Amino acid sequence: MGALILMFIYLQQTSPDYCPPRPPPPIQQETKKCMPCETNSTPTCPVPTPVPTPVPTPPPQREKPIVLLWFWPENFRFQLSECKTLFNIESCNLTDDRSVYPKADAVLIYHKSIARDLSNLPPSPRPPFQKWVWFHLESPTNTRKIPGLENLFNLTLSYRKDADISVRYYLKVKKNPGEEFVIPKKDKLVCWIVSNNNPGTGTGVRYKFYQEFIKHIKVDLFGKLSGKFLRHEDYYSTIASCKFYLSFENSIHRDYITEKLNGPLSVGTVPVVLGPPRKNYEDFFPSDAFIHVNDFPNAEALAKYLLQLDKDEAAYRKYFQWRNYLTAEPHLLSTQEFVLPICSACEHINSHREYKVAHEIYNWYFS
Ligand SMILES: *[C@@H]1O[C@H](CO)[C@@H](O)[C@H](O)[C@H]1NC(C)=O
Ligand SMILES: *[C@@H]1O[C@H](CO)[C@@H](O)[C@H](O)[C@H]1NC(C)=O
Repeated sequence: MGALILMFIYLQQTSPDYCPPRPPPPIQQETKKCMPCETNSTPTCPVPTPVPTPVPTPPPQREKPIVLLWFWPENFRFQLSECKTLFNIESCNLTDDRSVYPKADAVLIYHKSIARDLSNLPPSPRPPFQKWVWFHLESPTNTRKIPGLENLFNLTLSYRKDADISVRYYLKVKKNPGEEFVIPKKDKLVCWIVSNNNPGTGTGVRYKFYQEFIKHIKVDLFGKLSGKFLRHEDYYSTIASCKFYLSFENSIHRDYITEKLNGPLSVGTVPVVLGPPRKNYEDFFPSDAFIHVNDFPNAEALAKYLLQLDKDEAAYRKYFQWRNYLTAEPHLLSTQEFVLPICSACEHINSHREYKVAHEIYNWYFS
């Protein structure tokens, strides 16, 4: 009796349908429940056909490329995992460990760190699958033309729109347009944060303009040039407190439109730009998001216009209309300034596996 009960329990647990035993279904095949079997009738359990079911091929697991950062730009180190935390980029295996060089799919080489005699470049021969990335964010005016680099690289990383990896903070399209932008409180008219005034870096043009400009309007100056040093924590709040901000580039080149413009845009201040022609700015920013110095015959006319806007709230507000459908995000400051370029390279290397050569980089860059 005990044995019978045990067997009953066993049957209940193993074959609740009381069907004749059948071979186990092939893996992946849907297991159908059998109909209860009636005596004198053939079992209704489907007899699995021995046809091999196609095993669905899993999506190809591409290995993440290894991207080696050869130099830390300006020695500004950061946790390479920040690509994930800050930009949600984790498409490569990013490392600064030079011992993985023979396996690296790409090597990022920061131009300003390259020795004039090229002695600190990665060793030769280069693994045949490996791509070298020319990593450079300065304008041509501030670029040392180190001989021997012309035909070494596979990819360019630059602010230039036509670089292989083009890096800048783009305006983003708003998902839910409509909510009105609140202009922050202003207690200053025009501000400028500037440290570099070395004419050797191309700053002559902007400084000359500035000197003429301040004859006609008050400018609150911050940074090394003024002796009023600004802490990074105060960068955005200071810019936000000014109606206008001088986004003057140090030198004038195509596409050389830097975070000097992104800063005021991201906090709600109207940028006054000096740099490439207005048309070039309009490749990246709506025409009514900024005031261009070239829109005026001279510095005095610009000053007069700003003073007029200061008294005409409605006209000033027009410079905020684009914010109904676009938004500017703050950029990372100082020691984090290379995080975005490096993470962008990681993303690009993963999605571009094709063969590539960057010929004559200087011909391209200085054109
Ligand atoms: C990254 O590459 C290194 C060197 O080949 C390897 O040891 C490590 O496991 C890789 N990490 C990932 C997450 O793929
Ligand atoms: C990278 O560029 C070098 C130099 O131009 C070239 O010799 C090499 O074949 C390129 N390699 C790849 C993987 O694109």
